[in-house]
Amino acid sequence: MADTKKSIHGEWSSRFAFILAATGSAVGLGNIWKFPYITGENGGGAFVIVYLLCIAAIGIPIMMAETMMGRRGRQSPINTLQTLTTEAGADSRWHYLGWLGVVAGFLILSYYSVIAGWSMAYVAKAFIGSFSGESATTINALFTDLQASPIEQTIWHTIFMVATMAIVARGVKGGLEKAVGVLMPSLFFILMLLVAYAMTTGAYMQGLEFLFKPDFSEMTANSVLTAMGHAFFTLSLGMGAIMVYGSYLPKDISIAKTSMMIAGADTLVALLAGIAIFPIVFANGLDAGSGPGLIFQTLPIAFGSMTGGWLFGLLFFILLVFAALSSAISLIEPAVAWCVEHYDIERKLACIGMGGITWLLGMGTVFSFNEWSGMTLFGANFFEVLDYLTANIMLPLGGFFIAIFAGRVMLSRHAQEELAIENKVLFSVWSFLVRYVAPAAVFLVFLNVLGVFGVFS
Ligand code: PFF
Repeated sequence: MADTKKSIHGEWSSRFAFILAATGSAVGLGNIWKFPYITGENGGGAFVIVYLLCIAAIGIPIMMAETMMGRRGRQSPINTLQTLTTEAGADSRWHYLGWLGVVAGFLILSYYSVIAGWSMAYVAKAFIGSFSGESATTINALFTDLQASPIEQTIWHTIFMVATMAIVARGVKGGLEKAVGVLMPSLFFILMLLVAYAMTTGAYMQGLEFLFKPDFSEMTANSVLTAMGHAFFTLSLGMGAIMVYGSYLPKDISIAKTSMMIAGADTLVALLAGIAIFPIVFANGLDAGSGPGLIFQTLPIAFGSMTGGWLFGLLFFILLVFAALSSAISLIEPAVAWCVEHYDIERKLACIGMGGITWLLGMGTVFSFNEWSGMTLFGANFFEVLDYLTANIMLPLGGFFIAIFAGRVMLSRHAQEELAIENKVLFSVWSFLVRYVAPAAVFLVFLNVLGVFGVFS
């Protein structure tokens, strides 16, 4: 049945287009902004190992599951789940899983847009030469000033949301495919350049050691949860973003191979960002655990002192904004696709509505760094609560249920047909991972955080 059906929203023009779009979704602020700072906050090497294990054992199989489910259902995640549930004769409440994803997408995009706004502000700062020859202290002040200003952040947040919704309004193919094709290689190039710069800082080995030498005594139950949550976040899993992209995927494309390529590229970008950043942190006596400002406080130091730094700094922050854009559109696509299907309205209208709600919610994050910084829940401000709730709870929970659905609710015959894995052993490995390993891992990590058994407490 799924063979002949196409999505009403359109289809990718080729396998390569899907890879680009899904990589565009995966590679974003998560890799360059978030991975380094959470690695810094959670002690380095041991955290990185847990994160890599989660990518391999949980992330890749769930990415395959989401893509496969999307391609079979050919609709927004909510309706795809409904269709697949009917097909499997399962409980209709499974479609709430689609809702969990839509809500997670809103919440994530609301703060994602604010951070992307910081990146835009840094494009402007790079352009006017704010970094050149400046000390770590002055560069630090640039960041604290930005955080202290709700107006400046609101302006950039607004521009970013408008840009995101303008792209989403044009649909899956309009421009997106091409943009990502240029963006990814360029981003890679600048990261390599930063890695080369890091080698000249004198703290290169110290940086590498921090990143790759595990010290498990630094790990807490929450660090393990953060590493796992970040594996979901960075691969755009657990909320239907990859599922909705999978629904635009033509038949006869190997889902296993593409998933591995996407996860590989994503991991590479994150590690390169880490390799570039930590030597700069240590060489300048900065604090690796300083939080969400880390890349904004470190990379400008590199750009300020390297030859050609003005140009590279400018290019870097422009690319970061584009990387954020190609992720942001996938965060809201499940909601927009659902609105179009459900209310039979134009994409444009759906975008205005969904974008408006997200923008408003984003104001909470803007204020959490200034006016509302004193308003906390368990010691966390609005932004931190949203981040924890989405990345550490909603995405792993979504992934848990997606794994169960793909591995246990859908007929194995259907999953195999859709994944088109000829090799029986390979299919069994995937099946084992989504049936047992991924759900058990998520469950155990949750229990561990709740203190049921005190591993890394
Ligand atoms: N993967 C994106 C990043 O690493 O920046 C963020 C993201 C996009 C998370 C889409 C979740 C998602 F569904």
